[in-house]
Amino acid sequence: MGTPPFTMCITSGKGGVGKTSLAVNLGAALTRTDRKVLIVDGDLGLANVDIFFGLSVDTNILDILANGSDPLACVSFPLDNLGVLPATSGVPEMVALGPGDQDKLGGYLQCLFDHFDLVLIDTAAGIGASVLWFNSFVGDNLVVLTPEPTAITDAYALVKVLSTEHRRHRFEIVVNQVADTEEGARVFHQFQMVAGSFLDVDLNHLGTVVSDPLVGKAVRRQKPFVLASHFGPAAQAVRRIAADLDPRVVTAAASV
Ligand SMILES: Nc1ncnc2c1ncn2[C@@H]1O[C@H](COP(=O)(O)OP(=O)(O)O)[C@@H](O)[C@H]1O
Ligand SMILES: [Mg+2]
Repeated sequence: MGTPPFTMCITSGKGGVGKTSLAVNLGAALTRTDRKVLIVDGDLGLANVDIFFGLSVDTNILDILANGSDPLACVSFPLDNLGVLPATSGVPEMVALGPGDQDKLGGYLQCLFDHFDLVLIDTAAGIGASVLWFNSFVGDNLVVLTPEPTAITDAYALVKVLSTEHRRHRFEIVVNQVADTEEGARVFHQFQMVAGSFLDVDLNHLGTVVSDPLVGKAVRRQKPFVLASHFGPAAQAVRRIAADLDPRVVTAAASV
């Protein structure tokens, strides 16, 4: 058995805060140090990680669960050293996996993860059963916030449920879509004041990503913005987050 991979959920209370953009670009940035990265699309009902990479996929998580397909055979590689396990879009029964399916999927994922150094799971928003399960399944939890009051309240609700009902007490926080790093620090401080006062949690401000038109452009081009030749402030921020995370990843002995 090799070293277990570093596993982290990228999650949020509110939708549209930038989870998938962060997962895709953080994953791409981490391959620069030769890490073997897997991105799992955990937004089971409205999956779109494949679209961010312009992948055309014909197998996904549903095939593993429904047909017992080999999980590694369901992974697509848009980049050297970066695999994507896609999910389904428009299949409502995937949104809330029951305990039996969770156990089954958990077993399959555990074996799949051993082929990688680092696994990022891009979840759906909210406090649905699958979101909570993915967050309980990984070693680390990253919550994405934006300055919108609704994003902050919904993140509080998610962190509350994860800490009180799922024994998760440490959270990485990335503040996204802000004007500058000062606004990022203010939003983090605001969140910490509330969550830190009322919940038994330890929050770490992992980084701030400013609003950058190159993010939307990269989605339209279906290429990670960290790999674009025209490099903007969001790419710089995500590369910095990747550099901070990288020492926590130990290269696993296993190979893809
Ligand atoms: N830092 C940013 N600057 C500008 N636009 C952003 C930024 N982060 C995300 N977006 C945009 O916000 C929208 C939602 O992002 P997405 O990653 O799909 O969010 P989520 O996965 O949380 O629903 C997309 O249109 C994306 O281009
Ligand atoms: Mg998403």
